[in-house]
Amino acid sequence: MNLGLAQRLRDGTSAWHAAAERAGVMPALLRGTLPAAGFWQLQRNLLLVYQALEAGLEQHAAHPQLAPLQLGPLARSAALQTDLADLAPLAATADTAVLLHADAATVYVQRLQTLADQQPPVLAAHAYVRYLGDLAGGQALRRVAQRAYGLQGDTGTRFFDFGPPAQVAQRGQALRRALDGLVLDEATAQALVAEAQWAFAQHVRLFEELAGPVH
Ligand code: HEM
Repeated sequence: MNLGLAQRLRDGTSAWHAAAERAGVMPALLRGTLPAAGFWQLQRNLLLVYQALEAGLEQHAAHPQLAPLQLGPLARSAALQTDLADLAPLAATADTAVLLHADAATVYVQRLQTLADQQPPVLAAHAYVRYLGDLAGGQALRRVAQRAYGLQGDTGTRFFDFGPPAQVAQRGQALRRALDGLVLDEATAQALVAEAQWAFAQHVRLFEELAGPVH
């Protein structure tokens, strides 16, 4: 039985969400005081995560527990790559922006690859954490980033763009409904909630790593 998977995911991760908002570089990002180089590092780390997630989702696009989520149109990797190119001149301390911290992202990528190999339906938990987050709080982060880094139009923030507000809301609702509609046994539903909690915890580690000293 799969009763209200979307709500179970929300309830199961709400404490983690609060922790993620307070972790590492996030408060500075929200205040608009994170240096552009820090924003670039954050988005560069997220690119690693999205590339692994989207490779797994693409590989298993026809899986009966992933296909109904219709995740293809939500893919972020291409937009993020374009943004990083836009942001590189702002972020560069010398003449090039270089990925400095990626331990947490590397662990995240390994986890996503393991799931793609061994438990593809559990990738849905990661789609929930990233895409619903982007469709919700991510919209406010776009405005923060535009103000903080003087970005106009789409430049550097295509990652956050899922269309006009009505379409963003509709996409979020559609994803929640599709999660609710998945036919899962209880063990898989529990595995999805546990995986979403792990994903939030790994974001906390990633945000903290980015706030730490350069190594
Ligand atoms: C940094 C600051 C953040 C802010 C200001 C923020 C803000 C928000 C807001 C306003 C919502 C909508 C809540 C609702 O509809 O009741 C939301 C939902 C969500 N956020 Fe965040 N968020 C942040 C960070 C994150 C991060 C880092 C992640 C994931 C790693 C994330 C994942 C989610 C998810 C999955 C939801 C959907 C919850 C649900 O409806 O099930 N958020 N966020």
